[in-house]
Amino acid sequence: MNLRTLAALAICLMPLNAEIKKESFGTVDGQPVDIYTLTSAKGIEARITNYGGIVVSLKTPDKSGKLADIVQGFSDIKGYLQEEPYFGALIGRYANRIGKAKFTLEGKEYKLAANNDVNSLHGGLKGFDKRIWTAQAKGKSLELTYVSKDGEEGYPGTLTAKVVYTLESNGDLKIDYSATTDKTTVLNLTNHSYFNLKGQGTGDILDHEVTLYASRYTPVDAGLIPTGDLVPVKGTPFDFLTAHKVGERIDGNDEQLKLGKGYDHNWALDAKPGALAKAAEVHEATSGRVLEVWTNQPGIQFYTGNFLDGTLTGKDGKKYGHRAALCLETQHFPDSPNQPKFPSAVLKPGKTFRSTTVWKFGTR
Ligand code: GLA
Repeated sequence: MNLRTLAALAICLMPLNAEIKKESFGTVDGQPVDIYTLTSAKGIEARITNYGGIVVSLKTPDKSGKLADIVQGFSDIKGYLQEEPYFGALIGRYANRIGKAKFTLEGKEYKLAANNDVNSLHGGLKGFDKRIWTAQAKGKSLELTYVSKDGEEGYPGTLTAKVVYTLESNGDLKIDYSATTDKTTVLNLTNHSYFNLKGQGTGDILDHEVTLYASRYTPVDAGLIPTGDLVPVKGTPFDFLTAHKVGERIDGNDEQLKLGKGYDHNWALDAKPGALAKAAEVHEATSGRVLEVWTNQPGIQFYTGNFLDGTLTGKDGKKYGHRAALCLETQHFPDSPNQPKFPSAVLKPGKTFRSTTVWKFGTR
């Protein structure tokens, strides 16, 4: 066999995904936590910790093949133990807000911690983002499991949540959520990654071009709780059916934009409920990076980092200033437990909740 044939053979035998690498990421309340590195072809690499299921870093190539980390976060566990706005974390039991921190289910009222003015945000005081998940690396997938006790953060039922991150050979990062309960409950699971396609810590995202495949959105009141209406985006700064730069209309004279201090709203996706479809696309022209978000969830929270103010220092000493990143949180609509017109976020015993979100990384 000549050298050339040998080299060709070696390339064929090279696995497209290397094994998932596990390393220590420190301790939380005396308990060890780990960080898992998932790698794929073209150098795409995701580092995920079983503390909060947080995507700590995500490297993808630009149009010249140069890799950069496109999510905000911290280089060590300490960063995540301070007060910080859910960088990269899994959110549960209920992502986004529940109005007045309470809801009624099967005739019984449940009270939650009011951790966002009078409302409940992102699962309460100690949501899924602050829990240690049981992790298992299986081939290309990292399986995370968390059992939330009956009554935890005020929610009924023992909820067993499983989130599987899979870095596919083509570089797609797939997030499969599932959950079961032993009492009727409500849930809304998402991932709260903060993207900047130029690379984390490189400035604001106002030049990112965003498309949202949604003809309607859910306007909010002053506490960012949906009013219950579904309003057409047509003729408003919320129309992203064709690509618009984030900054094009964000500071316009629009009541909803003022309430959100920018975009911080739920769009009702046009896709058939339950079907995995493209929900959003983001393009950043200088790097050429494209992020596609696919989901089978009914909604997506498009949040433009309006509360970031430069006080947090993240990876590589980068300061995260106003609108330094954007979030695309696939979800049930906020406050669904109090909104009979919204798709139901109720889970009953004997049923399994399942949802999938896929992030696809490209360039153009
Ligand atoms: C979500 C909310 C925002 C904000 C961030 C975290 O995206 O919709 O209002 O609370 O989380 O700072």
